[in-house]
Amino acid sequence: TKPKEPELPLFFGWFLLPEEEERIKCATMDFLKTLDTLEAFKEHISEFTGEAEKEVDLEQYFQNPLRLHCTTKFCDYGKAEGAKEYAELQVVKESFAKSDELSVTALIVTPRIFGARVALTETQMKLWPEGADKEGVAPALLPNVEALPAGSRAHVTLGCSAGVEAVQTGLDLLEILALQKEGKEGTQVEMDLGTLSYLSEGRWFLALREPITADTTFSSFSD
Ligand code: A2P
Repeated sequence: TKPKEPELPLFFGWFLLPEEEERIKCATMDFLKTLDTLEAFKEHISEFTGEAEKEVDLEQYFQNPLRLHCTTKFCDYGKAEGAKEYAELQVVKESFAKSDELSVTALIVTPRIFGARVALTETQMKLWPEGADKEGVAPALLPNVEALPAGSRAHVTLGCSAGVEAVQTGLDLLEILALQKEGKEGTQVEMDLGTLSYLSEGRWFLALREPITADTTFSSFSD
């Protein structure tokens, strides 16, 4: 009999250590609490609620994911293209179960998701699959995404609104970065954590004054 192939996970990524998860959740929740009280945010509230006068409690609006992580490769148990090849990469095997530090440089909020932008180091980029930035991107946005540096999609999903899947965070992040590149930034507000900008249709981007670092382990997840 043939030896059984090792099973492929749902995805590979950097997983925040439990204590780091708590720290990041607290810091980012504080930001959400402040954001929904800002006049600039209230002006665009209908993009979240569908009604101009309605209030929104962003802490309730977004549901927390189970384990905070930054996905490198979504394998879908082997159904995703390139899953097996990724799992077999020497760098993936060597990095597996090793600690690594991630650097969060921005937070994003849209009517769909709440996320953290991750700035990957050159070493971390070796674990970032080629073409990962473009996966599932709408054809109309592809040229803009191709113009962004590789790894631009790297992020941690911090929350999703009802009925929204986590994969949306990377797509919304790319859209925001493409708009910024075109110089389409609107209102800017100075906050304790950094500069908040509005990018139309309920999209908000907080560029952190100081990056937030988080200790992680590179690993895989299967449901
Ligand atoms: P993300 O990395 O943006 O958080 P799910 O629970 O929906 O199956 O997803 C499991 C993880 O894999 C999530 O972290 C999710 O998004 C990511 N993910 C899901 N689908 C894709 C996809 N098509 N491409 C890239 N990442 C995906």
